[in-house]
Amino acid sequence: MFLWGTATAAYQIEGAVAADGRGVSIWDTFSHEPGRTRDGHTGDLACDHYHRWREDVALMSGLGVNAYRFSIAWPRVQPLGTGTANPKGLDFYERLVDALLEAGIQPVPTLFHWDLPQALQDRGGWMNREISEIFADYAAIVASRLADRIPLWITLNEPFVHMAYGYAMGIHAPGQALLTGALPAGHHQLLAHGMAVRALRAAGARQVAITNNCTPVWPASQQEPDLSAAHAYDVLHNRLFNDPVLLGKYPDLSAYTPTLDFVHDGDLDVIAAPLDFLGVNYYNPTRIAAPTSEGLPFTDAGITGYPTTAFGWPVVPDGLRELLTGLETRYGAALPPVLITENGCSTDDTATLDDGPRIAFLEGHIAAMRQAMAEGVDVRGYFVWSLLDNFEWAEGYHQRFGLVHVDFETQRRTPKASYAWLRSFLEAQKTDT
Ligand code: FCB
Repeated sequence: MFLWGTATAAYQIEGAVAADGRGVSIWDTFSHEPGRTRDGHTGDLACDHYHRWREDVALMSGLGVNAYRFSIAWPRVQPLGTGTANPKGLDFYERLVDALLEAGIQPVPTLFHWDLPQALQDRGGWMNREISEIFADYAAIVASRLADRIPLWITLNEPFVHMAYGYAMGIHAPGQALLTGALPAGHHQLLAHGMAVRALRAAGARQVAITNNCTPVWPASQQEPDLSAAHAYDVLHNRLFNDPVLLGKYPDLSAYTPTLDFVHDGDLDVIAAPLDFLGVNYYNPTRIAAPTSEGLPFTDAGITGYPTTAFGWPVVPDGLRELLTGLETRYGAALPPVLITENGCSTDDTATLDDGPRIAFLEGHIAAMRQAMAEGVDVRGYFVWSLLDNFEWAEGYHQRFGLVHVDFETQRRTPKASYAWLRSFLEAQKTDT
Protein backbone atom coordinates (compact mmCIF):
# COMPACT_ATOMS: atom_id res chain seq x y z
CA MET A 1 0.00 0.00 0.00
CA PHE A 2 1.39 3.40 -0.99
CA LEU A 3 1.45 5.63 2.09
CA TRP A 4 -0.29 8.97 1.64
CA GLY A 5 0.07 11.02 4.75
CA THR A 6 0.54 14.29 6.52
CA ALA A 7 3.51 15.15 8.73
CA THR A 8 4.02 17.18 11.91
CA ALA A 9 6.57 17.40 14.73
CA ALA A 10 6.05 17.47 18.48
CA TYR A 11 7.49 20.86 19.40
CA GLN A 12 5.78 22.50 16.44
CA ILE A 13 2.24 21.44 17.39
CA GLU A 14 1.88 20.02 20.89
CA GLY A 15 2.18 22.98 23.25
CA ALA A 16 1.48 21.86 26.83
CA VAL A 17 5.17 22.20 27.59
CA ALA A 18 4.73 21.75 31.33
CA ALA A 19 1.97 19.14 31.28
CA ASP A 20 2.18 15.70 32.83
CA GLY A 21 5.81 15.85 33.82
CA ARG A 22 7.32 16.87 30.46
CA GLY A 23 10.91 18.04 30.87
CA VAL A 24 12.46 21.09 29.27
CA SER A 25 13.74 20.78 25.70
CA ILE A 26 16.38 22.85 23.94
CA TRP A 27 13.62 24.51 21.94
CA ASP A 28 11.91 25.73 25.13
CA THR A 29 15.19 27.26 26.24
CA PHE A 30 16.12 28.69 22.86
CA SER A 31 12.75 30.17 21.93
CA HIS A 32 12.60 31.96 25.28
CA GLU A 33 15.96 33.66 24.72
CA PRO A 34 15.51 37.21 23.43
CA GLY A 35 16.04 37.62 19.69
CA ARG A 36 16.20 33.94 18.79
CA THR A 37 12.83 33.60 17.03
CA ARG A 38 10.83 36.08 14.98
CA ASP A 39 8.74 38.23 17.34
CA GLY A 40 9.90 36.06 20.23
CA HIS A 41 7.42 33.32 19.37
CA THR A 42 7.67 30.07 21.33
CA GLY A 43 6.04 26.65 21.16
CA ASP A 44 4.52 27.03 24.64
CA LEU A 45 1.01 26.69 23.24
CA ALA A 46 1.58 26.01 19.51
CA CYS A 47 -1.52 24.16 18.21
CA ASP A 48 -2.32 22.79 21.65
CA HIS A 49 -2.36 19.40 19.95
CA TYR A 50 -1.56 17.74 23.29
CA HIS A 51 -5.13 18.54 24.29
CA ARG A 52 -6.78 18.70 20.85
CA TRP A 53 -5.35 15.56 19.28
CA ARG A 54 -8.78 13.94 18.87
CA GLU A 55 -9.89 16.79 16.65
CA ASP A 56 -6.64 16.51 14.69
CA VAL A 57 -7.08 12.78 14.14
CA ALA A 58 -10.64 13.51 12.95
CA LEU A 59 -9.25 16.07 10.48
CA MET A 60 -6.91 13.42 9.07
CA SER A 61 -9.67 10.92 8.90
CA GLY A 62 -11.80 13.41 6.97
CA LEU A 63 -8.89 14.04 4.64
CA GLY A 64 -8.60 10.36 3.79
CA VAL A 65 -4.88 9.84 4.46
CA ASN A 66 -3.72 6.34 5.37
CA ALA A 67 -0.61 7.39 7.31
CA TYR A 68 0.50 10.08 9.74
CA ARG A 69 4.10 11.01 10.48
CA PHE A 70 4.46 12.69 13.86
CA SER A 71 7.30 12.94 16.31
CA ILE A 72 7.65 11.82 19.87
CA ALA A 73 8.90 14.43 22.31
CA TRP A 74 11.85 12.83 24.11
CA PRO A 75 11.36 15.18 27.14
CA ARG A 76 7.83 13.83 27.60
CA VAL A 77 9.15 10.28 27.73
CA GLN A 78 12.32 10.98 29.71
CA PRO A 79 12.12 14.48 31.21
CA LEU A 80 15.87 14.57 31.84
CA GLY A 81 16.78 12.47 28.83
CA THR A 82 17.86 9.42 30.81
CA GLY A 83 16.44 7.05 33.33
CA THR A 84 13.00 5.68 33.97
CA ALA A 85 10.23 6.59 31.60
CA ASN A 86 7.54 9.06 32.55
CA PRO A 87 4.39 6.93 32.17
CA LYS A 88 2.16 9.92 31.36
CA GLY A 89 4.35 10.85 28.42
CA LEU A 90 4.11 7.37 26.95
CA ASP A 91 0.37 7.26 27.69
CA PHE A 92 -0.19 10.32 25.53
CA TYR A 93 1.44 8.70 22.50
CA GLU A 94 -0.33 5.42 23.13
CA ARG A 95 -3.71 7.17 23.09
CA LEU A 96 -2.80 8.96 19.89
CA VAL A 97 -1.53 5.78 18.22
CA ASP A 98 -4.60 3.79 19.19
CA ALA A 99 -6.92 6.51 17.87
CA LEU A 100 -5.00 6.59 14.59
CA LEU A 101 -5.22 2.83 14.21
CA GLU A 102 -8.92 2.97 14.98
CA ALA A 103 -9.29 5.52 12.16
CA GLY A 104 -7.35 3.30 9.73
CA ILE A 105 -4.32 5.62 9.73
CA GLN A 106 -0.85 4.08 10.08
CA PRO A 107 1.16 5.90 12.76
CA VAL A 108 4.70 6.68 11.59
CA PRO A 109 6.63 8.06 14.57
CA THR A 110 9.92 9.92 14.37
CA LEU A 111 11.91 9.58 17.57
CA PHE A 112 13.89 12.80 17.31
CA HIS A 113 12.69 15.95 15.61
CA TRP A 114 15.11 18.40 17.23
CA ASP A 115 13.65 18.74 20.75
CA LEU A 116 16.56 17.35 22.75
CA PRO A 117 16.03 17.28 26.52
CA GLN A 118 17.81 20.34 27.93
CA ALA A 119 19.52 18.15 30.55
CA LEU A 120 21.36 16.39 27.69
CA GLN A 121 22.29 19.70 26.11
CA ASP A 122 23.82 20.62 29.45
CA ARG A 123 26.13 17.67 28.86
CA GLY A 124 27.11 19.00 25.41
CA GLY A 125 24.16 17.84 23.32
CA TRP A 126 25.11 16.14 20.08
CA MET A 127 28.71 17.31 20.41
CA ASN A 128 28.96 14.68 23.16
CA ARG A 129 29.33 11.13 21.85
CA GLU A 130 27.58 9.68 24.93
CA ILE A 131 24.26 11.09 23.71
CA SER A 132 24.19 8.48 20.91
CA GLU A 133 23.89 5.56 23.26
CA ILE A 134 21.48 7.45 25.48
CA PHE A 135 19.28 7.99 22.41
CA ALA A 136 19.25 4.25 21.72
CA ASP A 137 18.00 3.64 25.28
CA TYR A 138 15.19 6.13 24.71
CA ALA A 139 14.33 4.44 21.39
CA ALA A 140 14.11 1.09 23.18
CA ILE A 141 11.78 2.51 25.83
CA VAL A 142 9.34 3.90 23.28
CA ALA A 143 9.43 0.87 21.01
CA SER A 144 8.93 -1.61 23.82
CA ARG A 145 5.67 0.15 24.57
CA LEU A 146 4.43 0.68 21.00
CA ALA A 147 6.20 -1.55 18.48
CA ASP A 148 3.48 -4.16 18.82
CA ARG A 149 1.19 -1.71 17.00
CA ILE A 150 3.55 0.32 14.86
CA PRO A 151 5.43 -1.37 12.02
CA LEU A 152 7.52 1.56 10.74
CA TRP A 153 9.80 3.76 12.85
CA ILE A 154 11.90 6.76 11.85
CA THR A 155 14.94 7.44 14.01
CA LEU A 156 15.96 11.03 13.24
CA ASN A 157 14.59 13.98 11.35
CA GLU A 158 17.08 15.81 9.15
CA PRO A 159 20.36 15.44 11.05
CA PHE A 160 21.87 17.81 8.47
CA VAL A 161 19.52 20.67 9.33
CA HIS A 162 19.87 20.06 13.05
CA MET A 163 23.68 20.12 12.73
CA ALA A 164 23.85 23.04 10.28
CA TYR A 165 21.21 25.33 11.79
CA GLY A 166 21.63 24.27 15.42
CA TYR A 167 25.39 23.80 15.74
CA ALA A 168 27.08 25.38 12.71
CA MET A 169 25.12 28.60 12.19
CA GLY A 170 23.21 29.11 15.44
CA ILE A 171 19.85 29.82 13.79
CA HIS A 172 18.07 26.96 15.58
CA ALA A 173 18.42 25.47 19.05
CA PRO A 174 20.86 24.96 20.67
CA GLY A 175 22.12 28.14 18.98
CA GLN A 176 25.79 27.29 18.50
CA ALA A 177 27.83 28.74 15.63
CA LEU A 178 30.72 26.32 15.27
CA LEU A 179 30.81 26.35 11.42
CA THR A 180 32.54 23.17 10.22
CA GLY A 181 33.47 22.54 13.86
CA ALA A 182 29.89 21.24 14.11
CA LEU A 183 30.73 18.03 12.21
CA PRO A 184 30.87 15.88 15.38
CA ALA A 185 27.22 16.82 15.99
CA GLY A 186 26.44 15.25 12.61
CA HIS A 187 28.46 12.12 13.31
CA HIS A 188 27.02 11.57 16.77
CA GLN A 189 23.49 11.86 15.38
CA LEU A 190 24.33 9.25 12.75
CA LEU A 191 25.84 7.00 15.40
CA ALA A 192 22.68 7.47 17.48
CA HIS A 193 20.66 6.50 14.44
CA GLY A 194 22.65 3.29 13.94
CA MET A 195 22.44 2.33 17.61
CA ALA A 196 18.72 3.08 17.61
CA VAL A 197 18.16 0.84 14.56
CA ARG A 198 19.48 -2.10 16.61
CA ALA A 199 17.47 -1.11 19.67
CA LEU A 200 14.27 -0.67 17.66
CA ARG A 201 14.60 -4.04 15.94
CA ALA A 202 15.38 -5.73 19.25
CA ALA A 203 12.17 -4.19 20.65
CA GLY A 204 10.09 -5.56 17.77
CA ALA A 205 10.06 -2.78 15.17
CA ARG A 206 9.64 -4.42 11.77
CA GLN A 207 10.68 -1.49 9.56
CA VAL A 208 13.14 1.28 10.29
CA ALA A 209 14.09 4.43 8.37
CA ILE A 210 15.97 7.69 8.77
CA THR A 211 14.71 10.97 7.34
CA ASN A 212 17.31 13.07 5.58
CA ASN A 213 16.82 16.50 4.10
CA CYS A 214 18.12 16.30 0.54
CA THR A 215 18.60 18.99 -2.08
CA PRO A 216 19.74 18.92 -5.69
CA VAL A 217 22.78 21.19 -5.87
CA TRP A 218 23.10 23.53 -8.85
CA PRO A 219 26.47 25.20 -9.42
CA ALA A 220 26.06 28.94 -10.06
CA SER A 221 28.30 28.62 -13.15
CA GLN A 222 30.51 26.11 -14.89
CA GLN A 223 33.63 27.91 -13.62
CA GLU A 224 35.95 25.89 -11.41
CA PRO A 225 35.46 27.87 -8.13
CA ASP A 226 31.67 27.52 -8.38
CA LEU A 227 31.87 23.86 -9.35
CA SER A 228 34.08 22.96 -6.42
CA ALA A 229 31.90 24.98 -4.01
CA ALA A 230 28.85 23.09 -5.33
CA HIS A 231 30.71 19.83 -4.79
CA ALA A 232 31.49 20.87 -1.20
CA TYR A 233 27.86 21.71 -0.57
CA ASP A 234 26.65 18.42 -2.00
CA VAL A 235 29.13 16.60 0.24
CA LEU A 236 28.17 18.49 3.40
CA HIS A 237 24.40 18.60 2.90
CA ASN A 238 23.58 15.36 1.10
CA ARG A 239 26.43 12.87 1.07
CA LEU A 240 27.56 13.44 4.65
CA PHE A 241 24.28 11.88 5.80
CA ASN A 242 23.38 9.49 2.98
CA ASP A 243 26.77 7.87 2.27
CA PRO A 244 27.48 6.54 5.79
CA VAL A 245 23.94 5.21 6.17
CA LEU A 246 23.73 3.60 2.72
CA LEU A 247 27.36 2.85 1.87
CA GLY A 248 29.02 2.61 5.29
CA LYS A 249 31.60 5.29 4.53
CA TYR A 250 32.01 9.05 4.60
CA PRO A 251 32.77 11.05 1.47
CA ASP A 252 36.22 12.67 1.46
CA LEU A 253 35.96 15.37 4.14
CA SER A 254 39.64 16.28 4.34
CA ALA A 255 39.07 19.73 2.83
CA TYR A 256 36.52 20.66 5.50
CA THR A 257 37.90 19.30 8.74
CA PRO A 258 41.44 18.94 10.03
CA THR A 259 40.56 15.70 11.77
CA LEU A 260 37.99 12.94 11.86
CA ASP A 261 39.11 11.78 15.28
CA PHE A 262 35.49 11.81 16.44
CA VAL A 263 34.83 8.85 14.11
CA HIS A 264 35.88 5.73 16.01
CA ASP A 265 36.64 2.27 14.67
CA GLY A 266 33.45 0.37 14.09
CA ASP A 267 31.17 3.44 14.05
CA LEU A 268 30.44 3.17 10.35
CA ASP A 269 29.38 -0.45 10.68
CA VAL A 270 26.86 0.63 13.30
CA ILE A 271 25.66 3.56 11.19
CA ALA A 272 25.22 1.41 8.09
CA ALA A 273 22.75 -1.01 9.70
CA PRO A 274 20.38 -2.08 6.89
CA LEU A 275 17.27 0.08 6.52
CA ASP A 276 13.85 -0.63 5.11
CA PHE A 277 13.34 2.87 3.73
CA LEU A 278 15.20 6.10 3.19
CA GLY A 279 13.01 9.02 4.26
CA VAL A 280 13.59 12.07 2.08
CA ASN A 281 12.41 15.60 2.86
CA TYR A 282 12.42 17.83 -0.20
CA TYR A 283 11.67 21.53 -0.35
CA ASN A 284 13.86 23.06 -3.10
CA PRO A 285 17.16 22.81 -4.96
CA THR A 286 20.12 24.93 -3.81
CA ARG A 287 22.28 27.07 -6.12
CA ILE A 288 25.84 27.34 -4.90
CA ALA A 289 28.73 29.67 -5.74
CA ALA A 290 32.31 30.02 -4.57
CA PRO A 291 32.69 31.30 -0.99
CA THR A 292 32.68 35.07 -0.51
CA SER A 293 33.92 35.05 3.06
CA GLU A 294 36.00 32.94 5.39
CA GLY A 295 34.33 30.14 7.28
CA LEU A 296 32.28 27.99 4.97
CA PRO A 297 33.54 26.58 1.64
CA PHE A 298 30.52 27.82 -0.38
CA THR A 299 27.92 30.60 -0.72
CA ASP A 300 24.21 30.15 -1.28
CA ALA A 301 23.73 32.08 -4.53
CA GLY A 302 19.93 31.91 -4.50
CA ILE A 303 17.62 30.79 -7.28
CA THR A 304 15.73 33.23 -9.46
CA GLY A 305 13.21 32.72 -12.25
CA TYR A 306 10.82 30.47 -10.33
CA PRO A 307 7.75 31.25 -8.25
CA THR A 308 8.51 31.45 -4.53
CA THR A 309 6.68 30.39 -1.40
CA ALA A 310 5.83 32.85 1.39
CA PHE A 311 9.17 31.83 2.93
CA GLY A 312 10.88 32.93 -0.30
CA TRP A 313 11.82 29.36 -1.19
CA PRO A 314 11.84 28.65 -4.95
CA VAL A 315 9.12 26.32 -6.18
CA VAL A 316 10.86 23.76 -8.41
CA PRO A 317 8.74 20.60 -8.66
CA ASP A 318 11.11 18.99 -11.15
CA GLY A 319 13.80 19.26 -8.45
CA LEU A 320 12.06 16.35 -6.72
CA ARG A 321 12.37 14.19 -9.84
CA GLU A 322 15.99 15.30 -10.19
CA LEU A 323 16.69 14.46 -6.56
CA LEU A 324 15.08 11.03 -6.66
CA THR A 325 16.66 9.93 -9.93
CA GLY A 326 19.98 11.34 -8.65
CA LEU A 327 19.74 9.18 -5.51
CA GLU A 328 19.05 6.15 -7.69
CA THR A 329 22.06 6.91 -9.89
CA ARG A 330 24.35 7.55 -6.93
CA TYR A 331 23.36 4.64 -4.70
CA GLY A 332 21.85 2.05 -7.09
CA ALA A 333 21.26 -1.25 -5.32
CA ALA A 334 22.23 0.33 -1.97
CA LEU A 335 19.18 2.62 -2.10
CA PRO A 336 16.24 1.14 -0.19
CA PRO A 337 12.69 2.13 -1.18
CA VAL A 338 12.13 5.83 -0.59
CA LEU A 339 9.47 7.62 1.40
CA ILE A 340 8.95 11.31 0.79
CA THR A 341 8.55 12.10 4.48
CA GLU A 342 8.04 15.86 3.99
CA ASN A 343 7.11 18.12 1.10
CA GLY A 344 5.02 21.25 1.19
CA CYS A 345 5.07 25.04 1.21
CA SER A 346 4.15 28.02 3.31
CA THR A 347 1.59 30.48 2.02
CA ASP A 348 0.92 34.06 2.91
CA ASP A 349 -0.55 34.74 6.37
CA THR A 350 -3.21 36.91 4.84
CA ALA A 351 -4.39 34.52 2.11
CA THR A 352 -5.58 32.18 4.80
CA LEU A 353 -8.00 29.65 3.39
CA ASP A 354 -7.75 30.20 -0.34
CA ASP A 355 -4.34 28.58 -0.75
CA GLY A 356 -4.23 28.01 -4.50
CA PRO A 357 -0.42 28.14 -4.55
CA ARG A 358 -0.31 25.16 -2.17
CA ILE A 359 -2.58 23.14 -4.45
CA ALA A 360 -0.31 23.95 -7.41
CA PHE A 361 2.73 23.07 -5.30
CA LEU A 362 1.38 19.67 -4.27
CA GLU A 363 0.08 18.82 -7.74
CA GLY A 364 3.42 19.68 -9.30
CA HIS A 365 5.48 17.75 -6.77
CA ILE A 366 3.29 14.65 -6.81
CA ALA A 367 3.56 14.65 -10.62
CA ALA A 368 7.36 14.97 -10.35
CA MET A 369 7.50 12.10 -7.87
CA ARG A 370 5.47 9.96 -10.26
CA GLN A 371 7.79 10.88 -13.10
CA ALA A 372 10.73 9.65 -11.00
CA MET A 373 8.84 6.44 -10.29
CA ALA A 374 8.24 6.00 -14.01
CA GLU A 375 12.00 6.43 -14.43
CA GLY A 376 12.59 3.55 -12.02
CA VAL A 377 12.82 5.00 -8.50
CA ASP A 378 11.01 2.90 -5.91
CA VAL A 379 8.94 5.43 -3.93
CA ARG A 380 6.49 4.03 -1.37
CA GLY A 381 4.96 7.05 0.28
CA TYR A 382 4.39 10.80 0.26
CA PHE A 383 3.71 12.96 3.35
CA VAL A 384 2.57 16.56 3.09
CA TRP A 385 4.23 19.01 5.44
CA SER A 386 2.02 19.88 7.23
CA LEU A 387 -1.38 18.93 8.56
CA LEU A 388 -1.71 22.17 10.54
CA ASP A 389 -0.24 25.65 10.49
CA ASN A 390 2.31 25.43 13.28
CA PHE A 391 5.41 26.81 15.02
CA GLU A 392 7.91 27.11 12.20
CA TRP A 393 11.07 27.18 14.33
CA ALA A 394 12.98 30.48 14.04
CA GLU A 395 10.10 31.93 11.97
CA GLY A 396 7.60 31.35 14.76
CA TYR A 397 3.99 31.41 13.57
CA HIS A 398 4.80 33.53 10.53
CA GLN A 399 5.09 30.68 8.04
CA ARG A 400 1.86 28.78 7.56
CA PHE A 401 2.49 25.32 6.09
CA GLY A 402 -0.86 23.72 6.97
CA LEU A 403 -3.57 22.08 4.91
CA VAL A 404 -5.64 23.24 7.87
CA HIS A 405 -5.58 26.83 9.08
CA VAL A 406 -5.07 27.38 12.79
CA ASP A 407 -6.22 30.56 14.49
CA PHE A 408 -3.57 30.80 17.19
CA GLU A 409 -5.77 33.05 19.34
CA THR A 410 -8.71 30.66 19.52
CA GLN A 411 -7.10 27.37 18.36
CA ARG A 412 -9.90 27.07 15.83
CA ARG A 413 -8.98 24.73 12.95
CA THR A 414 -10.38 25.45 9.48
CA PRO A 415 -9.54 23.30 6.46
CA LYS A 416 -8.09 25.29 3.57
CA ALA A 417 -8.81 24.82 -0.13
CA SER A 418 -5.78 22.51 -0.37
CA TYR A 419 -7.37 20.16 2.18
CA ALA A 420 -10.43 19.78 -0.03
CA TRP A 421 -8.21 19.34 -3.07
CA LEU A 422 -6.12 16.62 -1.38
CA ARG A 423 -9.24 14.84 -0.16
CA SER A 424 -10.57 14.60 -3.73
CA PHE A 425 -7.15 13.58 -4.99
CA LEU A 426 -6.90 10.76 -2.43
CA GLU A 427 -10.45 9.68 -3.15
CA ALA A 428 -9.54 9.37 -6.84
CA GLN A 429 -6.49 7.21 -5.95
CA LYS A 430 -8.79 4.68 -4.30
CA THR A 431 -10.96 4.30 -7.39
CA ASP A 432 -7.90 4.21 -9.68
CA THR A 433 -6.40 1.17 -8.02
C1 FCB B 1 11.82 20.87 7.65
C2 FCB B 1 11.52 20.42 9.06
C3 FCB B 1 10.09 20.63 9.49
C4 FCB B 1 9.52 21.93 8.94
C5 FCB B 1 9.80 22.08 7.47
C6 FCB B 1 9.22 23.33 6.87
O1 FCB B 1 13.19 21.13 7.52
O2 FCB B 1 11.81 19.05 9.21
O3 FCB B 1 10.03 20.55 10.88
O4 FCB B 1 9.96 22.98 9.69
O5 FCB B 1 11.17 22.04 7.25
